[in-house]
Amino acid sequence: MNPQPSIGVVGATGAVGTVTLALLAERGYERVRAFASSRSAGSRLAFGDEELVVEEATAEALGAGDVDLFLFSVGTAASRELVPVASEAGAVCVDKSSAYRLVDGYPLVVPEVNGARALEALARDRIVANPNCCTIPLACVLKPLHDEAGLRRVRVSTYQSVSGAGAQRMEALAAEAPTEHDLVMDWSWEGVESDEEAKLRAETRKIMELPDLPVSATCVRVPVMVGHSEAIWVELEQPLEPDEAAELLRGAPSVRVVDLPAFPTPAAAAGQDDVLVGRIRRDEAAENGLALYLSSDNLRKGAALNAIQIAELLLETAPVRA
Ligand SMILES: NC(=O)c1ccc[n+]([C@@H]2O[C@H](COP(=O)([O-])OP(=O)(O)OC[C@H]3O[C@@H](n4cnc5c(N)ncnc54)[C@H](OP(=O)(O)O)[C@@H]3O)[C@@H](O)[C@H]2O)c1
Repeated sequence: MNPQPSIGVVGATGAVGTVTLALLAERGYERVRAFASSRSAGSRLAFGDEELVVEEATAEALGAGDVDLFLFSVGTAASRELVPVASEAGAVCVDKSSAYRLVDGYPLVVPEVNGARALEALARDRIVANPNCCTIPLACVLKPLHDEAGLRRVRVSTYQSVSGAGAQRMEALAAEAPTEHDLVMDWSWEGVESDEEAKLRAETRKIMELPDLPVSATCVRVPVMVGHSEAIWVELEQPLEPDEAAELLRGAPSVRVVDLPAFPTPAAAAGQDDVLVGRIRRDEAAENGLALYLSSDNLRKGAALNAIQIAELLLETAPVRA
């Protein structure tokens, strides 16, 4: 029996997929296969010191039953088609699209916040959803504050990098003259807010298990290549001094407090595993209010790393197939 799990990265040529391959190689996984659409089947991708030949992610290939774990980053429509096939063939599936995130019964997991929920997937179809790239760092920061003083209300404004919109948008930004750079709100409008803003609220409520938590979000795309930032205003049930909040966050997993005069930036967060949080201060506009600012690598903790951490929780519990 091979102690190494067999892993399929689906969407391996994309912004998240290439980071997923790099992280798997760094962590010493050896039995890794790369899948993407027919467009890039046959191309080669770096995997540590080696190269992987990209395979087409057909239902036949993903349903063959020879892969223990699939990490999907292919978009919602492709996930809806391919994840069930892989699951029915017995694989653990961690899906980074929004296909399963808010569907009842499917765990939506940030391991540091609600990791135990992931294990529920083993009793059903082994599918776990990975949250949105802004929800993950937000939940990492909200969890210790909630445990100590109770969350009453959250307001958040995001500054999201273009890599959050995929590899093609990264190429477009690289080719754009700096004078053309602009802020964009490139999500679908759903009446009074964007689907991204609605997702941030709904996913935060589900992960924190606070179904009625008031969350107000304004999401904006900024001309930055990698690293999402968020300005956060929380109202708490109990008073919490800024220095007490900083101490709680210093002890929180996957969070690194950045002390003034430094502050979190996308450039500082890019390539890092931790969520950087700083500018922790009293919010004078609210009772028991705190204001904070975070930056996080949306391709790592916001996507690939969080998914691998979920998978590792599951693989620790479920035996690898012979
Ligand atoms: N970027 C982020 O920060 C981030 C964070 C969290 C979650 N996500 C989610 O992760 C997913 C991928 O995002 P991304 O930014 O990596 O996008 P991307 O750079 O556009 O990459 C998309 C990947 O999916 C593959 N693909 C597309 N359609 C496919 C199909 N029908 N069958 C098989 N493979 C297909 C593409 O393969 P080809 O090269 O062959 O076209 C490519 O490998 C999305 O659901 C996104 O919402 C992204």
